[in-house]
Amino acid sequence: MKVITAKSAGFCFGVRRAVDTVYELSEGPKKIYTYGPIIHNETVVDDLAARGVGIVNSLDEIAALDPADTVIVIRSHGVSEAVYDSITGLGFEIVDTTCPFVKRIHDAVRGASENGEEILILGSPDHPEVEGIMGWCHGPVQILEDVESAKAYKPLSDGPVTLVSQTTFNHKKFEDMVEILTSAEYNVNVMNTICNATLTRQNEAEELASRADVMIVIGGKHSSNTRKLYDICAARCEHTYFIETLDDLNLEVPKSVRLVGITAGASTPQNLIEEVQKEWKN
Ligand code: F3S
Repeated sequence: MKVITAKSAGFCFGVRRAVDTVYELSEGPKKIYTYGPIIHNETVVDDLAARGVGIVNSLDEIAALDPADTVIVIRSHGVSEAVYDSITGLGFEIVDTTCPFVKRIHDAVRGASENGEEILILGSPDHPEVEGIMGWCHGPVQILEDVESAKAYKPLSDGPVTLVSQTTFNHKKFEDMVEILTSAEYNVNVMNTICNATLTRQNEAEELASRADVMIVIGGKHSSNTRKLYDICAARCEHTYFIETLDDLNLEVPKSVRLVGITAGASTPQNLIEEVQKEWKN
């Protein structure tokens, strides 16, 4: 039996940068709080908690802390301009680990909306990254989640529209929705802001799943990018399994398995991927 792990499995550049930053800060003298869990992975979050790193989920919770010895870390998803300003307004030091690819979207939507353009975001309305992007728009903004909403879309004015997407949006869905919007001849300036890390991970997973007898997708149950990876793999490989920890690896798999493929979402630490890999090789 052969076990192949996709090269792009696991932490992307932005998440690695954010997690490494929090580990470094945890060595310092100040109390560290992340605004929301730094990644969708309980093992990493628990390990950070053991090092004294706390999590705050609202501005009220931050307001109850002492700004004199506390650092608030903004995670790679980013936050809205209003949240950012409120935290600094309360007197806290911020360490901003917003991924530069997300920051680029914030800058684009702010610039375009300041020029009077409507902003269209392709993504999940309740995803923190999308909430953050929305919060940098200084004018009308709409969020389109799927092909149906793209079909139902009506611009709010006759002016130009700038379209961006959540960095982890499915590329096929993006193309289908853009096709609908552009063929309706709206004045849309399309910016494909899907991150390459996601695209590469999805393409590699799809290719590996199409050859594998068993496909293992590792990631947090609440991670939307891992769920998308699972869907892509399950469409190609009948025996696709979503696991969060080594304990979930108790799988009933066919005896004739020759190739096991492994991939992992953007928030899955390297050591867990290696442990899963080792289990299969044993
Ligand atoms: Fe950044 Fe792309 Fe990761 S946007 S956080 S490198 S998925």
